[in-house]
Amino acid sequence: MKDKVILTKKIGNEEVKILRNNYDLIIVEDEKEDLLDILRKHSDAKALITFLSDKIDEEVISLLKNVKIIANYAVGYNNINFNLAADSGIYVTNTPDILTDATADLTMMLILSTARRLIESDEYMRNGKFKGWGANLFLGKGLRGKKLGIIGLGKIGFATALRAKSFGMEIIYNSRTRKIDIEKKYDLSYLDFDNIISKSDIISPHIPFTPDLHYLFNAEVFGRMKKGSIFINVSRGGLMDESALADSLENGHLFGAGLDVFEHEPKVEKRLTMLKNVVMTPHTGSATFEARSGMGKMVIKNIELALAGKFPQNLIPEMQSVIK
Ligand code: GLV
Ligand code: GLV
Repeated sequence: MKDKVILTKKIGNEEVKILRNNYDLIIVEDEKEDLLDILRKHSDAKALITFLSDKIDEEVISLLKNVKIIANYAVGYNNINFNLAADSGIYVTNTPDILTDATADLTMMLILSTARRLIESDEYMRNGKFKGWGANLFLGKGLRGKKLGIIGLGKIGFATALRAKSFGMEIIYNSRTRKIDIEKKYDLSYLDFDNIISKSDIISPHIPFTPDLHYLFNAEVFGRMKKGSIFINVSRGGLMDESALADSLENGHLFGAGLDVFEHEPKVEKRLTMLKNVVMTPHTGSATFEARSGMGKMVIKNIELALAGKFPQNLIPEMQSVIK
């Protein structure tokens, strides 16, 4: 008999096909019941594949009687109460590295499209407002010589830094651990958080969300950012107070914001959606064919290992330290 695996939402066809071949696959999205009911009904399931939109809390974990692994199809895993999962002897895995380039590319896209006013320009063209070249038409900000403040120099932060350097930007960063070798090799400067805030022309956090970082970017921090600076967020919506951000954009303190994530997805602060200097994407940082297919394959590999009684290769760091 095949092991039962529960997938909450569909992923790529090819990966779904592999899962169907190897397992008795239940896809929650296709069922009439919600996740809790499905888990009650299929208490023999051995693995659960989740997404950042699935809240894997105490109630869900209490229903995972035979589940050996929660394989999260994302690099972030703040949607999962992983301490509780660990207490229940359930592995939690994520999909690091494979989505680094896709997310860093999207970060550059948001930087460029806010700095050069892509959305306003595109709307202008589509509305037939273009009546001829103008020396003052849609002036934006050049990137060369500007300071990009990166909070969190992990894989995505670093990949973003390299891209921005090729645009002539100066990189200042803050990270839990200072990375002196990387700083020297790539000419990055380490500064404390407050200095990054007050000195950057563009700020982009690349840190995992933890509850102590809720509203790290609040009214007071936006107020200390340089007038005319740009705020980018491709990490997690909970890092920023959307209402305070809207205030800073409305009153002209910030030049623009490029946002891929929101605190209460799919809800977005209404005022942000009315502002022309905001560029928004629907949490599509890793949405390339290449990254998503790689993420699917990683999830499959992790499940295969866990169900064979081995350590999955992408155990989240918190669990690696418990097991070692
Ligand atoms: C996306 O937000 C992810 O964490 O993979
Ligand atoms: C995060 O990536 C950090 O190193 O602080």
